[in-house]
Amino acid sequence: MTGAGCLPEILARAEARRGALTEAELAFLLRLERENEIGMLCDAAYRVKLREVGKTVHLRGLIELGNRCVKNCLYCGIRRDNTRENRFTLTMDEVLAGAEQILAFGYGSLVLQAGERTDVRWTDFITEAVRKIRELDHGALGITLSLGEQSEEIYRQWFEAGAHRYLLRIESSSPELYATLHPADVLHRFAPRLEALRALRRIGYQVGTGVMSGLPGQTAEDLARDLIFFRDLDIDMIGMGPYLPHHATPLGQKVLAEGSFDPARQLSIGLKMIAAARLLLHDVNIASTTALQALAPDGRERGLLAGANVMMPNVTAAGYRANYQLYDNKPGCDENAEESRAALERSVAAIGETVEYGAWGDSPHFRHRHDAKSVTTQSQEVR
Ligand code: 5AD
Ligand code: SF4
Repeated sequence: MTGAGCLPEILARAEARRGALTEAELAFLLRLERENEIGMLCDAAYRVKLREVGKTVHLRGLIELGNRCVKNCLYCGIRRDNTRENRFTLTMDEVLAGAEQILAFGYGSLVLQAGERTDVRWTDFITEAVRKIRELDHGALGITLSLGEQSEEIYRQWFEAGAHRYLLRIESSSPELYATLHPADVLHRFAPRLEALRALRRIGYQVGTGVMSGLPGQTAEDLARDLIFFRDLDIDMIGMGPYLPHHATPLGQKVLAEGSFDPARQLSIGLKMIAAARLLLHDVNIASTTALQALAPDGRERGLLAGANVMMPNVTAAGYRANYQLYDNKPGCDENAEESRAALERSVAAIGETVEYGAWGDSPHFRHRHDAKSVTTQSQEVR
């Protein structure tokens, strides 16, 4: 039985060893409501973060390449059926200008993100963009892609062009909950999404995934199973955030009409998920996402204090940002890249951490797994 009296013991055990928490214990942590208990949870996660990944924040300059999307996820503002959205796609020159800016800022890594498209014109454009970025950066930048579900062949093509990390959120590891968030058609099936994560791993990417928390109908047990899912897939990077309604989506309209949206609750569950993920998984990279900042001005800093170690400053030109609204009130739409950079410096300094410039900032977990593999191979060779 897990009761409040067990909290110090559970936290101590989680701090001491990766993977030490059961599903029931994770659900117990995610259900904590009292300020002081949530404080204990976040403090324990923060200690693990300092020990495993240090007191430095790694940056990934985020370029939003375009908001055209073939999918129709019920929660997302750039879903295909949202005809009110102005659609844009960056030109190659704009993408490369973004990459130059990221280099000049010393961010060390970039993320190319967009709605999902699988047409050859698009997949070739990405291959070309990755190649061209590699030409201009001479290997200085880590390149992460976040471009949705693609065939294994396309993932491989992009890997060979020079990308080495991929983010594909599973959104929810529960096939039943996943089905409530997506139309019931062939484009939105759970099984191929899971298979896509496996394909990315086979190819050799550092693989990131994540979920939305605080979804209608989602329980603490569902979220606990999401964390176990990350562990079982041996995920390297995590990007997750609380669900936020968008007024022009079916799910957003339902939530807003019911009046059930509670920003404080969403922030709290988002932070508890970060802390629980850090306590379970120890050496993975965890992003403090913009969705947290949408709920509180200091949301991203609070994410860092709950155990996150990565931030993704937006370098998309200010004119396009407002068109990449996955949810209402996305922060930073009126900032340019310089201002986003300054805002981020202030956030990090405010909590006594420092930004690590000029480093790829690979997931230590990925490195550890590879080191372990090469040690095994070497010892097998010796034998
Ligand atoms: N609230 C929070 N996160 C959202 N995403 C999309 N729509 C929303 C929303 N309304 C997240 C999804 C997706 C990522 C690009 O943004 O998790 O994978
Ligand atoms: Fe498209 Fe991603 Fe939004 Fe779904 S969540 S509609 S795939 S951009």
